[in-house]
Amino acid sequence: MAESPPGSVSVRKMEDRFGHRISYLRVSVTDRCNERCQYCMPQETQEWLNREEVLSYEEMLRVVRVGSGLGISKIRVTGGEPLTRRNVLWFFEQLNRVDGINDIGISTNGTLLGKLTKEGISTAQALKNAGVRTVNVSLDTLDPESYAETTGRDLFEDAVAGIDAAREAGFEKIKINSVLMRHRNEHELWDMIEFAKDRELLLRFIELMPVSTTHVLTEENFLPSGEAKKLIEFRHGKLKPRPDIRTNGPATYYEIPGTGQIVGFIGAMTNLHFCETCNKLRLTCEGKLRPCLGSHLEFDMREVLRNEEMTDEDVARFFMNVVDRKPEMHEFRENYQPGRKMVAIGG
Ligand code: 5AD
Ligand code: SF4
Repeated sequence: MAESPPGSVSVRKMEDRFGHRISYLRVSVTDRCNERCQYCMPQETQEWLNREEVLSYEEMLRVVRVGSGLGISKIRVTGGEPLTRRNVLWFFEQLNRVDGINDIGISTNGTLLGKLTKEGISTAQALKNAGVRTVNVSLDTLDPESYAETTGRDLFEDAVAGIDAAREAGFEKIKINSVLMRHRNEHELWDMIEFAKDRELLLRFIELMPVSTTHVLTEENFLPSGEAKKLIEFRHGKLKPRPDIRTNGPATYYEIPGTGQIVGFIGAMTNLHFCETCNKLRLTCEGKLRPCLGSHLEFDMREVLRNEEMTDEDVARFFMNVVDRKPEMHEFRENYQPGRKMVAIGG
């Protein structure tokens, strides 16, 4: 890579070997969560990272600043549950001030969105005020008991209250992400659609991915999105493909005939074109830069960030090197056993 003169970092753009322009960084701010989703965390021991292992907000902001000079314009903040980290609202405010960042989102389980801040507004409203544009809430079921079983916590009401708080706050877009699981929610797809329609939420069904070492990630529990689609069509008639709808990610969208409602499918396992439009990188909360969720590859950026001799130019070079190693597609289909918890990678 040619050395750039000082100040010219902003003209460079990141592109991988397959022509993907990298413009999207998912930042996990914590590995902690107030829930224990079966498909996300191993149930047995739960050891959190030590505080000094986790990047400070300043360190994360530096990564974002350098990334934005390289073409990153969209940030999604994830966890664990991002709203469990202290002062996370301050972090969002700072993100919003970074030049070149024009789209900030959060992925959350929703349970804390309705919680009041010390200013007396909902956390959802505070996020909106801080410049967050889109909220993705995980909700796999509408049955409180099934919710408690899946998430390990009896917080269904809080999740729904959180979704309502987000609606009141007036976000541009609220998406509901629902992980498909056989015997768990396959009989609820129609109700989920109804729920999303009533509340004007964009519902997406996600295929279960083998991202953790938990007992639920089995063939037996896997419900392919094609089958979910058929189940939906059984009630609603043939879904109409809407290739014109794109959300900066790998979801494919369909329209439900008669209602105009849109549903999405994130077919990480069965959609062979899944990776073709990939534009993202992930930063884990302990500072690993990951070029792909479904690959073992991760690179320790913290080492660079905490080495006083390393400049922003070195951080930029690190970004470029990781992008150069971005695989063409994920390896989930090749019996991927990462031994790494989703909660620590950032969903
Ligand atoms: N497979 C698919 N989705 C998962 N998520 C967490 N673990 C998995 C998995 N094994 C999803 C959550 C949430 C987001 C953070 O990641 O449901 O929508
Ligand atoms: Fe927490 Fe989300 Fe993982 Fe569930 S999926 S344990 S809510 S981080």
